[in-house]
Amino acid sequence: MALCTGLLLTFLTLIALGQLAPTIAADNVAVQWNLLVSQFVCTHNMQPTESNFLYLQTALAQWHALLALKDTGACTTDEAVVAFASRALLAAYLPFEEDNTIDPFLDAQLQTLHLTRSQKRLAQSMGEAVALDIVARRLKDPRRTFTYGPTREAVDERENDPTPGLYRFLNYTGNTPSLIIQRSALGQTFVLPNALAYIEENLKHFGPPKVPSPEWDVEYEQLVKIGRDNWKGRTKEMNQTAGFIFGSQQKGSLCRSPVDFWFAIARTVLPPKTSLYDTALLFSKLGVAIHDSRVVLSTLQYGFWYWRPPTAFRAGDANHKPIPNWSQYILWNTHPEYPSGATTISGSAGAVMELYFGKTDVPFTIQGTYPGPACGNSTDVIGPRHYKSFAAAVEDTKLGRMYAGAHYNISVRHGAELGAKVANYIWKNWGMSTPSGILPASAYLNVVSKQPSKAGEFRPLKLEY
Ligand SMILES: *[C@@H]1O[C@H](CO)[C@@H](O)[C@H](O)[C@H]1NC(C)=O
Ligand SMILES: *[C@@H]1O[C@H](CO)[C@@H](O)[C@H](O)[C@H]1NC(C)=O
Ligand SMILES: *[C@@H]1O[C@H](CO)[C@@H](O)[C@H](O)[C@H]1NC(C)=O
Ligand SMILES: *[C@@H]1O[C@H](CO)[C@@H](O)[C@H](O)[C@H]1NC(C)=O
Ligand SMILES: *[C@@H]1O[C@H](CO)[C@@H](O)[C@H](O)[C@H]1NC(C)=O
Repeated sequence: MALCTGLLLTFLTLIALGQLAPTIAADNVAVQWNLLVSQFVCTHNMQPTESNFLYLQTALAQWHALLALKDTGACTTDEAVVAFASRALLAAYLPFEEDNTIDPFLDAQLQTLHLTRSQKRLAQSMGEAVALDIVARRLKDPRRTFTYGPTREAVDERENDPTPGLYRFLNYTGNTPSLIIQRSALGQTFVLPNALAYIEENLKHFGPPKVPSPEWDVEYEQLVKIGRDNWKGRTKEMNQTAGFIFGSQQKGSLCRSPVDFWFAIARTVLPPKTSLYDTALLFSKLGVAIHDSRVVLSTLQYGFWYWRPPTAFRAGDANHKPIPNWSQYILWNTHPEYPSGATTISGSAGAVMELYFGKTDVPFTIQGTYPGPACGNSTDVIGPRHYKSFAAAVEDTKLGRMYAGAHYNISVRHGAELGAKVANYIWKNWGMSTPSGILPASAYLNVVSKQPSKAGEFRPLKLEY
């Protein structure tokens, strides 16, 4: 009994800590697990790709569990299969959270569901089966292991041969190391058959400006001031927009990235009576659209290898004198610049929300839940942010990344455009079965990565056989 009380307390504490709790419109078992994922993202400070992976696979497990239950007509409940599927999925990825968080959370939830022993047993075996199937299918994803080395070598090769417009490492003193993070190019998509083929067919007009060129002059001028750390014209609103969108900057920022922004938006705007099925399906579509757009995004980033603002402004080019002490407001230099990942996420998620609601002018207010750095003294707290539409939240993301000094205007615009395009494809082709592919496991293939010889050229990562 003492144990049960303890578990219930843990659940109640989680709800109380879940700073988002008051803003939930639709409260059901699927939403509750989505909130638990948002806590994991925050406590483990997960990167966008990883956090979205958890949100999306939890939702897919829920949706599959509901379909399995409907198809078999087993004697248990929707809530029970959703709970057990979520539990199995999260325990598979975060086994270290099982004892202290996941199982107490499940246990407290089960107490509210009043299930018989056999309903629990059935739900458990069904939930585990669908969740582990989802996990197993992702194990073949070649993305990280085999692409990190080749992309790093492609940068190193050029370190001593700087070409205006191309990405390279920078030596920052006592600051973020210039690491390269390659998470998604060549990654497995969920619905889109192939990112590269998609780009060749649908994004022909994409590409960053050549350097030098009049187009580059425009991008340069639009960012050199507003992106700079110590520009005198910076306003509090600019600082807060940048800090909020990038995440984990100050109290009231998003917990890490726009991924959390959009799941919080979905929890906020879904009507209270939304069914479990509709909730799980919408969360799945959000996550899949974000994921597949990010594979397209990375394919572009590691094909164009465009230079980041600190490289560009410090190095200068034929039409611009070097500004050796130029620093961006939020320093982050881990992947080629074009296009912006944050606006890709927002463009993609914003389009899914518009498709779900059949309109854009749905207003909402979001409070970022980042609790602030443990030993920071900043008193600047970002308050709730109000948006009159999904499109307004996408615009805020664009400005936030420019005010951070992280992306040129063309890159934030193209990120949002590609996200929305891919989201529309995902929405239209949701139930399509995907090809299984003809290639052997990536362990038996070479990943080839080469930087272009000049800015504007596209040389995507390739698998060689
Ligand atoms: C960067 O730092 C490394 C090691 O400190 C040094 O060897 C290299 O010359 C530096 N590169 C530039 C471009 O300053
Ligand atoms: C970005 O470009 C668009 C389209 O040209 C323009 O309307 C907008 O004002 C630009 N934003 C900034 C911050 O310069
Ligand atoms: C914006 O941030 C910069 C850089 O940290 C800081 O110097 C400036 O005081 C801030 N501006 C306002 C109005 O808060
Ligand atoms: C950057 O360098 C310029 C030119 O040397 C100087 O005028 C300016 O004060 C410097 N800015 C900072 C923030 O160090
Ligand atoms: C915070 O303030 C304390 C007390 O003034 C100071 O000792 C500490 O260095 C500050 N920490 C940071 C990260 O600025």
